[in-house]
Amino acid sequence: MKRNLVTIFCFLMSLQYGLLNAQTQVKPTLAPSALNPWGNPIGQAEIAIIPEPVSLMRKEGFFELPQNVVIAAPSGARLASSVNSLRDKIQNASGHFVSVINDASSVAHIKLQILDKGDASLGKEGYSLTVNSQQVVIKANNEHGLFYGIQTLLQLFPKEIESKEIVEAFKWTLPCVEIKDFPRVAWRGLMFDVSRHFFTVDEVKQFIENMSRYKYNKFHFHLTDDEGWRIEIKGYPKLTEVGAWSVKKEGTFGDFIPPGINEPRTYGGFFTQEDLKEIVAFAQDRFIDVMPEVDVPGHSLAAIASYPDLSCTPEAVNYKVRSGEKIMDWSRGAPPLALVDNTLCPANEKVYVFIDSVVSQLARIFPFEYIHLGGDEAPHNFWEKNEQIKALMKREGLKTIPEVQAYFEKRVEKIVRAKGKKMVAWDEVLEGGVPNTMTIMAWRSMEKGIEAAKKGHEVIMTPTQFAYLDYMQADEITEPRVYASLRLAKTYEFDPIPEGVDPKLIKGGQGNLWTEQIFNIRQAEYMVWPRGFALAESMWSPREKKDWSHFIAKTEKHFERLDLAETKYSPAMYDPSFAVRRTADKLLQVTLKTEIEGLDIYYSFDNSAPDRFYPKYTEPLIVPVDAGVLKIVTYKGKQQVGRILHMPITELNKRAGK
Ligand code: ACM
Repeated sequence: MKRNLVTIFCFLMSLQYGLLNAQTQVKPTLAPSALNPWGNPIGQAEIAIIPEPVSLMRKEGFFELPQNVVIAAPSGARLASSVNSLRDKIQNASGHFVSVINDASSVAHIKLQILDKGDASLGKEGYSLTVNSQQVVIKANNEHGLFYGIQTLLQLFPKEIESKEIVEAFKWTLPCVEIKDFPRVAWRGLMFDVSRHFFTVDEVKQFIENMSRYKYNKFHFHLTDDEGWRIEIKGYPKLTEVGAWSVKKEGTFGDFIPPGINEPRTYGGFFTQEDLKEIVAFAQDRFIDVMPEVDVPGHSLAAIASYPDLSCTPEAVNYKVRSGEKIMDWSRGAPPLALVDNTLCPANEKVYVFIDSVVSQLARIFPFEYIHLGGDEAPHNFWEKNEQIKALMKREGLKTIPEVQAYFEKRVEKIVRAKGKKMVAWDEVLEGGVPNTMTIMAWRSMEKGIEAAKKGHEVIMTPTQFAYLDYMQADEITEPRVYASLRLAKTYEFDPIPEGVDPKLIKGGQGNLWTEQIFNIRQAEYMVWPRGFALAESMWSPREKKDWSHFIAKTEKHFERLDLAETKYSPAMYDPSFAVRRTADKLLQVTLKTEIEGLDIYYSFDNSAPDRFYPKYTEPLIVPVDAGVLKIVTYKGKQQVGRILHMPITELNKRAGK
């Protein structure tokens, strides 16, 4: 009886969705309130896979999860953790019993299989996933592919799979599908800065766990900066006794009052080498490589506060790890003017001994073949005046300060290569001329990446315009203030492979989360999601598969998943942007615009909180002369989706200018 019902229902579904066409994307056509035969809601973006697979064909029918689920998976330590996690998720959310067997030839409800003959079209990380009414089968050339197949499978489950408690009286079904999938680029990274604010081992694991669900495969671990040295290095104990600790401050980082000489330096922390190995193993279980970054020769105040000899400047004996007070003057642009010398001294042999020791130890902790040695934003002003640097320039025939930095970078690269690793550096290192054996992380623009590729460097694209996750994602009236903004729609435009360069040199892309204004893991999550969805899709999915309105429908579905998983995300995509101008008769006129379709904006000027019974925004607003605040809220039909925004009229006046 049930099966007949299913068949009729699925036939109707397939007509509705136009699912008989292999390349048709699943688009909403049923009312969101429609229910499938088991009472589960279907409709808008019933299938919401992020990143979008290469090909997804909706088939007739559903797979109904039995009470006793058998998963068959190849034996292999690396996959075991994700198979066990799949088992635990199903068991914990559904209450069904799940067993795992290591015999791929046996009958199982969920079968993971490594292809005997291999399938070149799937590559190293691709997979195929078939769900029919009897069975789920994931096939791949290796464990990487099976891992990504599992991530897709989890997204085919109802969102309740993310529940930490058993969801009672619920029919667990998956839509029947045929999926073939593989990534567009090989490097799909996220960078996490744990120097500006320290995050614990568990928080770092939480960050990595979330990345893995969206098929990221590189974790760039920014471990040192002016605000903290976070790695235990044997032989240099002060790096963590002194360099890992600052004065706890809250408010707007960068504007903090300089701490007093006797204020306790108890804020911060560091990772022991054992902690780091634990993080590496955790990431490896999720098929993520961990690339450590030690940011030198700039951004090195924490190292210098620990070992002042590493700088060129004797006054460094008085330097302290930065607690968020001003140490740079950016008023003349980049490179900044350092108010305290935060650079290692390229003319000091002790520096290379130090770097050799650090890199040797990193090479033993981190199995990944790449190590990042920074290279960004090294100020020139202390080097320019320094006698040791002048002597080095004379001896080595260096004409400019960028050439001094390039001398340093080349020596550092030699050290890295001697440990059997490859060096990655930020794009500033190109300025003095470095060998193209260095991999360049292009952050200042796509053009810097293009320039590097044209010089024959491997490139990872992480441009501020698309990939800086520390930038504000909504108007600054709602966000901790950062000097720039990056909306979700702009992030979604990211294309890591530009025209006109050899695509083989573009290893991929990455989002960067700097944490000056991020004091805790909840805010870190808020900054990453959903922009992390947009970057994941830009790096994994074929360019022609990207579709903004479909992506937004999927994002809304994933918000529900993140709610259940208790992961924070930003609702900024529902917040309108404000454009303001002065009319000919000097009145303020405000234009509101949302980046997604189908929202209604309601507003007030009378200080009260608007809801959907308030005036609806239909055209630019003229601000009443006595108003003190414009409050707005967005709705989707009858549902409030946006937060209530309070825009002070003084702020609008400021933006409109005279
Ligand atoms: C950077 O954002 N300074 C690499």
